[in-house]
Amino acid sequence: MSKELFDNVRALIEEIERAQPTTPEELEQFRIRYLGSKNVLKPLMGQIRHIPNEQKREYGRLVNQAKQLAERKYQELKEVVARAAEAAEGQDLDLTAPGEPLEQGAIHPLSTTLNRIVRIFERIGFTVAEEREIEDDWHNFTAMNTPEDHPARDMQDTYYLRDVPGMLLRTHTSSVQARVMTRQQPPIRIIAPGRVYRNETISARAHCQFHQVEGLYVDEGVSFADLKQTLLYFARQMFGPRVRIRMRPSYFPFTEPSAEMDVSCFICDAKGCNICKYTGWVEILGCGMVDPQVLENCGIDPTRYTGYAFGMGIERQAMLLYGINDIRLFFENDVRFLRQFRAAF
Ligand code: DAH
Repeated sequence: MSKELFDNVRALIEEIERAQPTTPEELEQFRIRYLGSKNVLKPLMGQIRHIPNEQKREYGRLVNQAKQLAERKYQELKEVVARAAEAAEGQDLDLTAPGEPLEQGAIHPLSTTLNRIVRIFERIGFTVAEEREIEDDWHNFTAMNTPEDHPARDMQDTYYLRDVPGMLLRTHTSSVQARVMTRQQPPIRIIAPGRVYRNETISARAHCQFHQVEGLYVDEGVSFADLKQTLLYFARQMFGPRVRIRMRPSYFPFTEPSAEMDVSCFICDAKGCNICKYTGWVEILGCGMVDPQVLENCGIDPTRYTGYAFGMGIERQAMLLYGINDIRLFFENDVRFLRQFRAAF
């Protein structure tokens, strides 16, 4: 009889050792069975009265051993099981389910257009100069030979910083010319892409923010012929080898002589369409020989050096290239618009 009772306790100890509760539910079953108020050890302890006196001590120790083992195991497993349950939360994975497709993004059409322009000029030795959009009056206007009373300074066109006198949002990338020439002597051959701001009424054709690319080449012996050749090369790279250019005399304060350049309409092949307004030509940029006064303002000797400069808008070219009819679309970040440029180069 007493041997049988001892064996019962030993069997129970083995059982406790073998038990492997892994879920919170299994662990709770474990607790109820070995540590609960009606646990299986209690009746075993009650059996001690059938044990001969000289063995009672050993029997009691054995039952206590079982109890402590169950307690220790329960405490250990409590944390392990809780952590495993947390990790498993929401993770019944179906490894055979098809994957979620990765959505392909699109490069903004202005970036694409701007990058193309930059690459064309980089191929012939121009380097990129990027400068600040918040500019001072001197670099944006005075250095660029734009007198105090010039209409380009009109409050209606320029955003001045209300709290910082003499500071403004640059109205053109020509300010970068002044930035570069005041810190570097010729030879200078840069293009300056970037955003500019003007206080314009927003419409399908005009916006208060837009982008330009400025070009500047200053060295000994730079001529108008160099300018023309460079811009012809650009136009053909940008719009196709059949494109022709023409220059019309114009006026800019910072160039003399100045010109505006048209390219033959690449939409209708110069036959006449509503893009070129049936003239066969579309205007794309302003240019000219850097006014000697501008060189002098920036610390470059105008008796030794000459230079040419040009400035072009990006939005108009992008609109022509992609057939976009409203400039506001560029700035609204409507994904339905942007998604259309996934395949653009
Ligand atoms: N800054 C002029 C504008 O915003 C564009 C321009 C014209 C830039 C002639 C030039 C230039 O560098 O030579 O309208």
